[in-house]
Amino acid sequence: MLKYRLGSSLNQPLSSRTFSRGGLVVKALKYDEELIKTAHKIASKGRGILAMDESNATCGKRLDSIGVENTEENRRAYRELLISAPGLGEYISGAILFEETLYQSTKAGQTFVELLNESGIVPGIKVDKGLVPLANSNGESWCMGLDGLDKRCAEYYKAGARFSKWRSVVSIPAGPSMIALRDCAYGLARYAAIAQDAGLVPIVEPEVMLDGEQDIDRCLEVQEAIWAETFKYMADNKVLFEGILLKPAMVTPGADCKVKSNPTQVAEYTLKMLRRRVPPAVPGIMFLSGGQSELESTLNLNAMNQAPNPWHVSFSYARALQNTVLKTWQGKTENVQIAQEALLKRAKANSLAQQGKYDASGEGKEAGAGMYEKGYVYCESCITNVTVMFDMLSPIKKFTCNT
Ligand code: 13P
Repeated sequence: MLKYRLGSSLNQPLSSRTFSRGGLVVKALKYDEELIKTAHKIASKGRGILAMDESNATCGKRLDSIGVENTEENRRAYRELLISAPGLGEYISGAILFEETLYQSTKAGQTFVELLNESGIVPGIKVDKGLVPLANSNGESWCMGLDGLDKRCAEYYKAGARFSKWRSVVSIPAGPSMIALRDCAYGLARYAAIAQDAGLVPIVEPEVMLDGEQDIDRCLEVQEAIWAETFKYMADNKVLFEGILLKPAMVTPGADCKVKSNPTQVAEYTLKMLRRRVPPAVPGIMFLSGGQSELESTLNLNAMNQAPNPWHVSFSYARALQNTVLKTWQGKTENVQIAQEALLKRAKANSLAQQGKYDASGEGKEAGAGMYEKGYVYCESCITNVTVMFDMLSPIKKFTCNT
């Protein structure tokens, strides 16, 4: 069966692969055109992604912080508040949902998928199954979820999702070890190929965590290493680069590094890393916020957009879009409107930053509040307890889900 995008294959001798590098497309796969269209719709001027795909357990932690019980109805109500903010589609082009949310509806009975589409926002879905310890590594982790992924992606496509996210992590203080880097990159590449095969634009996210004392140069080195591996394996797996989106962490000093960086420096290092590693065929770079404050993440994005880039450089924030919203809402119906205004304010600020036009002078104290938590972990795959253990061998936390 002819399934190659290029006239080359890994099982051919190296010389013939080398010669066929510039080869013509033999056969476009079923969803190629749609993938490119979707990726460009998400990577459109002045817009970015609202990451609202916290698992039930992580969403529970957020709700707990404002004294709201972690019930299905409260999670639904919070997500409805987010996606029904009037005019959200002007700044937000995609929303990443957790599986439960993909199938939920507004109180009035409209499905979330319909509401998002009506607002010009592409519905997306988190498809990885979370992190577990990686044997024989430096206390590092690997990301589960490839088993049955093809079938799940097909179901999500039927339910209306058009893009997906897979988050793997890289810990600088833990090494990172080569086995962890390779496993992270290979898992992402396999996922990306499977998602594209089902019509979902894959967001490729190897999150280099903020933890540690490393300086910005060390972060650059590790980011270059993980993106080199990831693109190598994506190329091996015939991933269509025109139909993917990246979700990197910005290149910054570690949270415990004594020397801090300003937005100009973060932008300079991050763009240097991207130019060295990411082909211009990739439509969009959608950064995660990773524990930066709302203000910091917006300022850094703005600094990266002071001159034209080969890709759309934008945001896919969770905490940096939702922090003030959640605190404003407090679980009260009478606060829904002002909480939505808080969301629109952050979304607009980041929309301006995407265009390099952001001015921080109107920001309040809240936006500057740091959100970094040492050893931050998501519980991705279950709704029950998470056990957090401190690994004596390395300064990162490991966790196990108690299911
Ligand atoms: P933060 O912006 O809170 O880092 O989350 C982004 C995300 O979705 C991580 O996968």
